Amino acid sequence: MQVCSLSLTDFRSYARVELEFSAGLTVIVGPNGHGKTNLLEAVGFAAGMGSLRGAPDGALIRDGADAAVVRCLARAADAREVLIEGELARSRPNRVRVNHQPVARRRDLVGVLTVTVFSPEDLDLVKGEPARRRRWIDDALTAVRPSLGALRSEVDRILRQRNTLLRQAGGRATDDVVITLDVWDSKLAAAGDELRTRRQELLGALSPRIKSYYAQIAKGRDEAGGAYMSSWGEESLAEALAAARRDDLRRATSTVGPHRDDVQLRIGGLPSRTHASQGEQRSLALALRLAVDAEVRERRDVQPVLLLDDVFSELDSVRAAALLDALPLSQRILTTAAGLPAGVRSDQLIRLTGESPPPVLVGEGSS
Ligand SMILES: Nc1ncnc2c1ncn2[C@@H]1O[C@H](COP(=O)(O)OP(=O)(O)OP(=O)(O)O)[C@@H](O)[C@H]1O
Ligand SMILES: [Mg+2]
Repeated sequence: MQVCSLSLTDFRSYARVELEFSAGLTVIVGPNGHGKTNLLEAVGFAAGMGSLRGAPDGALIRDGADAAVVRCLARAADAREVLIEGELARSRPNRVRVNHQPVARRRDLVGVLTVTVFSPEDLDLVKGEPARRRRWIDDALTAVRPSLGALRSEVDRILRQRNTLLRQAGGRATDDVVITLDVWDSKLAAAGDELRTRRQELLGALSPRIKSYYAQIAKGRDEAGGAYMSSWGEESLAEALAAARRDDLRRATSTVGPHRDDVQLRIGGLPSRTHASQGEQRSLALALRLAVDAEVRERRDVQPVLLLDDVFSELDSVRAAALLDALPLSQRILTTAAGLPAGVRSDQLIRLTGESPPPVLVGEGSS
């Protein structure tokens, strides 16, 4: 899959802009605050994603405008063209169309245009709280097998209901509370055991990839890897929930389950969250993204478009070159405020220049 052109109206800082992308590498270069990330967010939007920096949808609409429109022409591997059109409005539901046909939900676009995003915030995968890594492994599960999105929503829904019940119980195990809790526990046990198994299987498949990408980028002797840390042991989740029930009632929350698990990342045997250097953490975060991308390519037979936002700024030149080499040879769209990666040709550049707002685009040849 390849993004051929992008046309934006009132999206982020852009009142109006049209861009074309080459099939291989495109580097978007310009000073800070000139709208580089905004362009990648627009491609992400066409791929069914929200803001790449976790902002609410409203932030994607240009300040002062009522609606943002993103039009993206993409070409599949078999040369079929796909026109993805999305409108994001402040005061009415969003509208999404594929080849002029309405699509019910924006996330249905995920199967139309697939992207792999590398963003500066990815450092949080390594440095952040366990919730960040749970989201990573769950996002990976749905990227590899979109149908698993339902399992994840199911676990979230059961947990919300179970926690509401525990809060309402106020620490008292009345007959009513016990009967309802039994129902939620059996649902949570089934869905939670399955989610843990799926995560563990996927992590098992990703681990050798993480190790090899890390070795490729970091060129170090230290091995990187990930281990699944569960909040319950070898027993079934049903047994663990039963054992934790008294505690759960007292604390009015669910203390065991997939929402309390973590993926522990290590470099050279040491936990990277607390021991790794900034550059090592960055390299590991890149390896995590590349590993999932490779798994998606193999299992779903798709070629995700790679979007790399400002990921070179913290890497030394050796690691930056190693990263460029490690990228699969599908379409790659990079942004950078600093130096260009070595070997980039002028016909692969889009320069953002001029005063903001709005930035003026000077595409230097774009086919
Ligand atoms: N909804 C919006 N309406 C108008 N302007 C916006 C909106 N959202 C963001 N901007 C502006 O867009 C600019 C940021 O653009 P962007 O994050 O793409 O910059 P960048 O080129 O990636 O910069 P950096 O190199 O610092 O990452 C800021 O000036 C911001 O004020
Ligand atoms: Mg940026």
